[in-house]
Amino acid sequence: MTELHPVEWLGDRVRWINTLKIPWEEEWVEARDYERVAVAIERMEIRGAPAIGVAAAFGVALAALYSGARDVEGLKADVRKAIERLGRTRPTAVNLFWALRRMGRVLEGNYGDTEELRRAIIKEAVRIFEEDVEVNKAIGRVGNEVIEDGDTILTHCNAGALATAGYGTALGVIRAAWESGKKIKVIATETRPVLQGARLTVWELVRDGVPVTLITDNMVGYVMSKGLVNKVFVGADRVLRTGHVINKIGTYTIAVLANRHGVPFYSAAPTSTIDLETPVEEVVIEERNPDEVRRVLGKLLITVPDVPVLNPAFDITPPELVEGIITEKGIARKPYEENIPKLLGKG
Ligand code: MRU
Repeated sequence: MTELHPVEWLGDRVRWINTLKIPWEEEWVEARDYERVAVAIERMEIRGAPAIGVAAAFGVALAALYSGARDVEGLKADVRKAIERLGRTRPTAVNLFWALRRMGRVLEGNYGDTEELRRAIIKEAVRIFEEDVEVNKAIGRVGNEVIEDGDTILTHCNAGALATAGYGTALGVIRAAWESGKKIKVIATETRPVLQGARLTVWELVRDGVPVTLITDNMVGYVMSKGLVNKVFVGADRVLRTGHVINKIGTYTIAVLANRHGVPFYSAAPTSTIDLETPVEEVVIEERNPDEVRRVLGKLLITVPDVPVLNPAFDITPPELVEGIITEKGIARKPYEENIPKLLGKG
């Protein structure tokens, strides 16, 4: 199966697969304008924590490439403006801010001319992309150690190639287990309201030939009570020093149920998803358009128009429900407050 890179740098433009159109159509979009990249992140044409970080870095590269500035200071000012705009696209996934901080650090160097600075910026964006693919493959290798032949793994949302620069985090672990010859099966939750599970995770796994069964979100308790799930693997948009896992809405419900039924619940994420600074009460949970809930994929109205709606895009799973956090550097286990900084070499 050819490797899928949902966001790519083509030398003078960015291209991405519009995940809103999957599974019906494989539409590739190209842009030379960072504003178009920002809008793609907002609309969720590009989504998933690592993928939006990579896309934002490429957005900054576009800003540098197409800036009309004649001197280094002018170019730096244009790039800062792009960083500020791209940082306002989505508030919860920390990879976005991590990638933009890395891009911002490039501006701290001394450059003889604008060309030298442009090259440095593009190089850093491409490096962020390349590292993400490598890191995901490493997460796959680490996570495969806890998977047994014959396991049925439940996953939520889409933490696959489509959510990253390639290979995926939670789906990267599933991919690595499958590639190593383990006969695993996957249960994917549909993931209301945006249906990343039904549309994207199922599409990816079918493409790779991994056996997958789709359930609605409210069937998780049933499948666990019937003993149909051995492990849960989800991704993360942000992991705190304390081990709190911020991930797609519905993750917390699954973790509670997994705990109730003695099913190990793991989160797989690159260390770029770890936020050592923010306390749990300060994490901003994105609230999205109420019509995502009132309608199915922006179309069929399934309720009374204008009914008040809650639409938080993410929830917070407390550390006691998390068996382990699988990163490219190894698995962090409880007590997280001690072991997460240690894993990052900051303990
Ligand atoms: O709103 P989304 O689709 O961007 O949310 C994505 C998730 O919650 C994923 O599970 C998370 O980003 C991990 S992706 C490797």
